Amino acid sequence: MMDNFAGHSLHLETARLRLRPFEDGDFELAVPFYRDPDFLNAMEEVPPDEPVTADYLRRAGKAMAEQGFLFAIVEKASGRTIGETCLQWMNLDRGKIPGEKVMRLPIGIWDKSLWGRGYGKEAARRLMTYAFEELGIDRLCPMDVSADNARSVALWRSLGMTVAREVDGGRVLDFEISRTEYERMQREER
Ligand SMILES: CC(C)(COP(=O)(O)OP(=O)(O)OC[C@H]1O[C@@H](n2cnc3c(N)ncnc32)[C@H](O)[C@@H]1OP(=O)(O)O)[C@@H](O)C(=O)NCCC(=O)NCCS
Repeated sequence: MMDNFAGHSLHLETARLRLRPFEDGDFELAVPFYRDPDFLNAMEEVPPDEPVTADYLRRAGKAMAEQGFLFAIVEKASGRTIGETCLQWMNLDRGKIPGEKVMRLPIGIWDKSLWGRGYGKEAARRLMTYAFEELGIDRLCPMDVSADNARSVALWRSLGMTVAREVDGGRVLDFEISRTEYERMQREER
């Protein structure tokens, strides 16, 4: 088994979290959370018919790892791995812009008792900073957000993102923040 499944060596930190390369063993940790319908339905647009297995998650994880930086989210205080996220190069045609470096940002806090404590925002903000300032991207675009996923919609809005397009009659939203908007926010925060 590969130890560093993610294939990168980037470690990032926030006040309460560590983001480390995703490991193969993390898929087993994730399975029980994916078997919770609340989490599964929030993460998967079309949830599988069969119960989620580590192999199922590994297949999706492999694609993300090949397309960017797949991280496990670790809670510093407990040392527990509590979620997953990926800075992923845009792989959907509708999100690509010729001449621009565009990334996606899927994220999931596995344990729903930890939702609403600011962890999602803390991790996403750190990755947004890294993507604009270290990778030099032009646009960050969380894609395929279910319009009725209030937490996710609030998360992206709270980071200054706006709806780039509505898909499927408004059932699904793609969010975005451009470099110009990101830099404007940075100046305002100073
Ligand atoms: C979506 C998710 C990553 C958000 O992370 P989180 O740690 O729960 O969210 P945060 O506590 O960081 O909150 C982010 C923002 O949303 C707001 N928010 C949190 N819960 C909310 C709720 N139930 N309704 C409305 N707004 C909410 C917060 O107030 C905050 O905004 P603010 O900073 O302006 O106050 C997390 O809930 C999760 O993993 N959910 C299941 C999987 C999922 O939906 N992933 C995203 C798929 S696109």
